[in-house]
Formats: sequence, structure tokens, C-alpha cells
Amino acid sequence: MRFDILTVFPGYLSALDLSLIGKARQAGLLEVGVHDLRDWTTDRHRTVDDTPVGGGAGMVMRADVWGKALDEYLVGEGVKILAIPTPSGPRLTQELCESLAARADRIVIACGRYEGIDARVAEHYRTREDIEVLEFSLGDYVLNGGEVAALTLVEAVGRLIPGVVGNPESLVEESHGQAGLLEYPVYTRPLDWRGHAVPEVLTSGDHGKVARWRRDAALRRTAQRRPDMIRALNAHELDKDDRAILAEYGWLWPRKPEPFSHPVRMLIDDSPDPGEVAALAARTFPDACPPSLPADAIAAHIATELSEEKFAHYAADNDHQLLGVRAEGGPLLGYSLVLLPSASRPPLAELAGAAELSKCYLDASWRGSGLNALLLTAALDRAAHAVGSGRIWLGTNAGNKRAIRAYERRGFELAGRRTYLVGDEPNDDVVMVRDIDVAY
Ligand code: ADE
Repeated sequence: MRFDILTVFPGYLSALDLSLIGKARQAGLLEVGVHDLRDWTTDRHRTVDDTPVGGGAGMVMRADVWGKALDEYLVGEGVKILAIPTPSGPRLTQELCESLAARADRIVIACGRYEGIDARVAEHYRTREDIEVLEFSLGDYVLNGGEVAALTLVEAVGRLIPGVVGNPESLVEESHGQAGLLEYPVYTRPLDWRGHAVPEVLTSGDHGKVARWRRDAALRRTAQRRPDMIRALNAHELDKDDRAILAEYGWLWPRKPEPFSHPVRMLIDDSPDPGEVAALAARTFPDACPPSLPADAIAAHIATELSEEKFAHYAADNDHQLLGVRAEGGPLLGYSLVLLPSASRPPLAELAGAAELSKCYLDASWRGSGLNALLLTAALDRAAHAVGSGRIWLGTNAGNKRAIRAYERRGFELAGRRTYLVGDEPNDDVVMVRDIDVAY
């Protein structure tokens, strides 16, 4: 592969004599030519710029000077790329660098300065069938010129050419590689440095455990730093452990994702709209009722106990904690209601002073996805913050084994029974309880 860099500051590119790229050039793996754009000027002052047509600040680089210079290097057979660094280009990515390394024969980089290069230069070379024009940006900030971006492109593409990086394995697990994740953190000796120890598992010699730890660390790092990369993952390429890690950061999938479905970020809504909660409550309450319960009793309960007015009251009242959960910008998918001890009427004397998890319901399509755990964790967390340390109880239909098992998994234990009226129909509920605690 050959790079030709055109610039008014050729000295800037002398870093390409150094390190792996410098060695690759010496070994003939890579050719790099650096050329002074002023060599194509004809006036005494070697002028490369002029004032912007239409007015405005700064100077613009002249198309005629650039055209003469570029024509000299955009020649020969094979895939020829004209790369133009500019803050108004699409972001340079690892994927693009990989594609360039795999197929480009010649990359000519036009380093602009001042206000940039006359737009007709890119326009003109785009009309040439034998040339691909690639405008690219390093990021959302403005540099003084394209030279730093040219160094970046040569290094990012050059290191992917076979032989340039000594150990090709070190390219496999990199950030922005095939896994679509940032790379896990790396460590070397000393194992203890200023009180910071290397994670023990890395010295265990257990390759399976080390691989899992690294994968978890990569997932956590990416979830914390680059939600855009998590959003782009394919749900089908993630195993159960991957999903459990991502669920901690609120990234979930419906239980049966479509092929190539992507993770969805769930957000806790601390002040859900009471009307939206009432609509969800009306939809989800019947699923928690035993089949024997008459429809009119369920309807009566929904009308009186799950109305918009009731939820508006809970939302406004300090003794109640109403939470919702939804995908970013999407409809409400779940809600919970906690009664703080002052509002709760426990059915068993030994539960005096406990808070109450009065409601915790999920849209049917999201059951079994981990969303319930997310909502419940948030509800318990907020309850704990309100009471400090104490207990929380709940009642659920004795026939609803799915709910009972789910609450057991979240640390609730059976405490007794109660009778619960739905409409005028008495229902047999189990009562469950668990501790809540927060260390301030
Ligand atoms: N030239 C000036 N700013 C730039 C950026 N952010 N990326 C690429 N080239 C540039």
C-alpha cells in the first residue's frame, strides 16, 4: 500500500519515520510520500489560499493548486482513495480502517488548513470513476489542519497491514474490534502498586475464568462509556452471562428477540404520568388474578383502585413511591408502588412498621426479560433510602406461583396469609417479607 500526503507543513509528518510505521516503511511493507503543496504554486509568494467567495472570516485553499498536486498522485491501477480530513466529515471508524487496509492500493491524503479546501475539489474527484473520495473527521472538535488526522489515518490503517504489527494476535481483541466492545483493562507487574492490586482471577491460571472476567470487564466498560456501542450489539451473539451483566446497566431484550435485535436501554421513571400508569395497571392487573375470579369483580377493582385519580394521589403523596420503567423515549412497560410504613396497613401484627410493596406489574411482552428485577431493585432501593433500614412486605395471590417464585428469587420469604378483596370477591393471598437496608 502507498500513502501520499499533501500538506503545507511537510515537517509535521516526520513522526511517520518513527516506531512501527517507520520500520514498516524501511521493510518495504508500506510506502509513504510526504509532499509540500506549495511546490504546485506558480506565484512568487507560493500562495495556496484566497479569501472566501461570498465573504466571511479566514482563507480558503485554492482548487486549482490542489487539482494540479492531486492529479500527480491519483494515478495508476488499483483502488485509489482521496482522503480529505475535515471536521465536517463522517467519523473515522475501525471498520472503515479495516476496509481500507483490505482493499486500498493507494491513499492520497489532502491536508487542509485555514477554513478548509475549496469544496469543488472533493466534488470534482467524486465524478471520477476510478477514485473514491473519503472525507473523514477524527471527532467533534476542530483542529488547526488535517495533518494530525493524516498521521492518524496512516497509523490506524498501516498497522492493519500484515507484518506491520509484530504479533498479529494483539489485533484480535482490541477495542472496536469484531466483538463490538471496548477492550478489557490490562495489567502487568508489579501485582500490587500503590495499594492497587491486579484482580486476583488474572493470576489464577484458570484460562476459562480469565476469559470470562475479561469479557465481563469489556461489557461493563462499554456499558459505562459507550452506550452507542451496546445499542449496536446483536442480541443473538450474547450469552446468558453477557445479558446478566448488561441487565445491571439497564440493557434488556424482550424474551423472544427477533433475529438481529439490539439491546434496549430501560430507564426508571421517578414521576410517571398517572394516566399512563392507570392504563398499564388496567392491562396488567387481570393477569395476576386467578381464572376463577369473575370479570366484573376485576373490572370493579380496576375502576375504583387503579384509576388515574388514585395514581395521581400516590404520585403527589410523600407516603407513596410510584415508579415506572420504560425504554428510552418509549411507552411505560412497568410500574411499582411502595407504601412507606406510615401509609401501610400490614395484615400481620409482626409486620408492624414495615413498608409495603403494594404493586409491581409488567407489560406481558417484557415478562421473563429481567425488566422485573430492574424495576423491583429500583423500588426496593428507593424504599431503603426512605426508611434507612427495615422490612418490606407484599401480598400476592396464593395461586400465582410465577410471582411467588420471582419474589423468592429477590429475597422475599413467606410470612403468612391474608384475605384480599377484588371487587367484593375475597381472595387468598400469601404474604411475603424481606429486609431492606441502605448504608448512607
Ligand atoms: N481538521 C480540522 N479538524 C479536524 C477533525 N476534527 N478531524 C479531521 N480533520 C480535521
